[in-house]
Amino acid sequence: MHIRVLGSAAGGGFPQWNCDSPRCRAARNGRLIRERRSQSSIAVSQNGQEWLLVNASPDIRQQILDNAVLHPRGAVRSSSIAAIALMDSQIDHVTGLLMMRESDQPLAIYCTERTEEDLRSGFPIFEMLEHYCGVRISHLPLDGAAVEPPETPGIRILPVPLTSKAPPYSSHRLDPRPGDNLGFVIDSPDTGKRAFYAPGLGEVDDRLKAWMASANIIMVDGTTWTDDEMAQVVGGKKTSREMGHLPLTGEGGMLDVLADYPLARRILVHINNTNPVLDPESAERARLEALGIEVSHDGMDIRF
Ligand code: MLT
Ligand code: MG
Repeated sequence: MHIRVLGSAAGGGFPQWNCDSPRCRAARNGRLIRERRSQSSIAVSQNGQEWLLVNASPDIRQQILDNAVLHPRGAVRSSSIAAIALMDSQIDHVTGLLMMRESDQPLAIYCTERTEEDLRSGFPIFEMLEHYCGVRISHLPLDGAAVEPPETPGIRILPVPLTSKAPPYSSHRLDPRPGDNLGFVIDSPDTGKRAFYAPGLGEVDDRLKAWMASANIIMVDGTTWTDDEMAQVVGGKKTSREMGHLPLTGEGGMLDVLADYPLARRILVHINNTNPVLDPESAERARLEALGIEVSHDGMDIRF
């Protein structure tokens, strides 16, 4: 099984367009230029031919350009992206669908009923796409059943309902329910190995711990280092937890969670532009390295 990280940053990317923090400035025109990151997305393939796009980031156009495995092949109008799976209805995970409107057939999309509801109401891009290529929606189950999209042979994903947050424009923002946010368990039929992917994760309960314990590769929410980071770095009002992202540090933070799985390959995804781990020379990055925890980057290639 093959996972390509297309975008390793949270919403806004790194640097963010309106951020002049020292780190964003250094990513724009200084020491951190090579640390730039685009917005959250991965692509998954078993055969290297047909790819499942997991989340469609606003940066999808550049992400496809930067990753030759996703270039068109065959017919004049074609794509290696055979289907799309959405883990929530957040802007950074779905806006790229609008950039795929030139498709000559309806986009094959896998998402929950809750996500579909948001994308037909608060952020009605499914409705908008009906005026272009259209969408063909398949609902992801929440009962522990796995899905094998026929468009992407060999891929088997099992959706795991998570506690995080529906976006501000969702009618479920203050009424969280299973299906607002998902993690994916991705199994490799060749090796029997398993990856767990969750870019938005607010709470880790026992059920989730069991899924993480069963994974050889854990790719999880590394949005912020501290809960109050947005306030400290850019004067933001919301804490990380309020946005549905468990911070890396603090009691019960993601580093504590990951400490229970020392044998798994542990990779942080969805890194916010305020997070000090984006600087490879930071003390925070050194701490991750000492723990054996990786920070994903755009173009990261994972095979299992
Ligand atoms: C989030 O996960 O909270 C997002 O990155 C928010 C956004 O895209 O604005
Ligand atoms: Mg996000």
